[in-house]
This record gives sequence, structure tokens and C-alpha cells, in this order.
Amino acid sequence: MDKKATGLRGRDLLSMADLSPGELDLVLREALMFKESLRRGQVEPSLRGKLVALIFQKPSTRTRVSFEAAVHHLGGKPVVLNASDIQLGRGETVSDTGKVLSRYVHAIALRTFAQEEVEELARAAEVPVINALTDLEHPCQVLADLLTIRERFGKLAGIRLAYLGDGNNVANSLALGCALAGMRYTAACPPGYEPDAGVLSMARKLAGEETIRVVNDPREAVRGSQVIYTDVWVSMGQEDTPRRRNDLAPYQLNRELLEAADEEAVVMHCLPAHRGEEITDEVLDGPRSVVWDQAENRMHAQAALLRLLV
Ligand code: CP
Ligand code: NVA
Repeated sequence: MDKKATGLRGRDLLSMADLSPGELDLVLREALMFKESLRRGQVEPSLRGKLVALIFQKPSTRTRVSFEAAVHHLGGKPVVLNASDIQLGRGETVSDTGKVLSRYVHAIALRTFAQEEVEELARAAEVPVINALTDLEHPCQVLADLLTIRERFGKLAGIRLAYLGDGNNVANSLALGCALAGMRYTAACPPGYEPDAGVLSMARKLAGEETIRVVNDPREAVRGSQVIYTDVWVSMGQEDTPRRRNDLAPYQLNRELLEAADEEAVVMHCLPAHRGEEITDEVLDGPRSVVWDQAENRMHAQAALLRLLV
């Protein structure tokens, strides 16, 4: 389907790798401008008269509400569709759903399981499609994360990020995001829990072997890092087993581990957190934590994205 893209307009965001370094920078600058204009109460209603469908095949708090809020602030109307309420949940194909929704709405965000489903939707839809989380990637999260890091440190290039625990969708999109932004990424994961091999090789192609690292020792990853990031041990759709928890237990982000980080280091988590598992209360609620800014920035980053794509 020819979506007649010019610049970012008309494009899809299915993976962080869909953005060039320059386009990532553009989205982040637009997000900062949106944030400032919202603060001044002077948002330009660039989605006036436009609808954005938000389809969820998995639960969501932040993604759902931050997208709804962003569309609202831009003067458009969000249409939230839980898969169980629409025919998609009864076997209508993703591609038929995309063709039909394209006749009503101006963009579609989809949260689902397989990355192939957002790809199928994007092929069928005539409007921009946004990945609102798949098993492989969570690009909207990482846009907000990079925005948060940029606000904190005034730059992205050269910042060292350590990711601890399960090499999941968030870990994958972070690897690509760090590669695009000129950051250094070290994931510390138990053997067998590494980020996706295809994603890692793409990130390394973008940024070089030395910049995107995977290690087993959490202290090695944390040492000298300015951003310490973790996420749940059991992602939506994964099986929760005692073995999994046992394997991931040494990667808990706690005070002792945080002491090995850079003095200025901030703590990040995409949320929802499982307190007492991958992160302690003390660290999540402590002075280094920027998790609430991160959650807020979801709205600003997605507003910027919608403004540029739609
Ligand atoms: N971080 C994030 O995507 O949260 P939700 O699952 O609540 O949308
Ligand atoms: N990795 C988590 C992120 C939730 C926002 C999951 O996929 O469940």
C-alpha cells in the first residue's frame, strides 16, 4: 500500500529502527515543544477533526491513557478498541481490520503479541500504524525514555545505559534507541534471557559492536552507567515459572547494586513495576528514580509522533 510518505508524514512506527538518527532527534524536539506548549496552554490543535484508533490485545494503563490524552490535547478524538470487544477478537483478520479502520480513522496504534501482526496491519492500512507494544518491541516507550534522559542530562550522545534482567521488548527497543542516539548500551541478563539476536545485530550495525553489549554480571553493566533501567521479569503473554524468577533474582535493582553506578545515575522503569521483584520499593521511590517523569513523557512523545505522522 502506498502511503504517500513525505518525511515522517504518512509513515508507520513499528520498530525503533524505522527512525533514522535525525528523525529520532526531530521527534524528541517536537515532544519538548509539545510539552512546553501544553504547559503554557497553547497547544496547536493539529489533530482537529481527526480520529485515532487504539487497539489493545493486551492490558494497558499508560499507553492507553497517554495516547488518549495526547489525542485529546491535539484536538482529535481517540477510539479505544479492546480486541475482545471487536471482531478481531472473534477471528476477523488484522489486515481486514486495518482496511476497514482506514476508512474511518487517521491513524491506528496496536498493542499485540507478534511483531508480524503490526507489520500485517501496516501493510493493509492506508493510514499510519504505530506499534503500541509487541512481544518484540515497545518503541513508544523508548521515545519517552530518551526524552526523559535528554531532559535529565541535556544530551543523549555518550550517555551509558545499563539494562538489567529480562532481555524483553523494552530491552530490544532500548538497544535500537541507544544505537540511534549515540548512547552506550549494556544489558546484563542471565544466559538464555538476552535481547533478541536480530535486534542486537541491527543495533550493532547502526552503532558498532562495542557500543551495544550484553553481559551476565549486573555489576559490570551498572559500573559507570548514568542510566540504570529495569523491567518486569515476566512480560505479558510469558509463562511465569519458578525457574524464570530464580534465574532473574540476581538482577534485582536494589540499593546495593545502585551504589556501583555513576554518582549522578538515574533509575528508570517503564512500569508497571513488580515491587520487591525486579526493583525494590526503596529504589523505585528513591531520589534517583525518574519513573514518574518517564510515564508523563509517554504523552508528550506520542503527541509529537502523532503530529509528525498524521
Ligand atoms: N509502560 C507501559 O507501556 O505501560 P502500560 O502497559 O500500562 O501501557
Ligand atoms: N515488558 C513488559 C512491558 C510492559 C509495559 C511487557 O511486555 O509486559
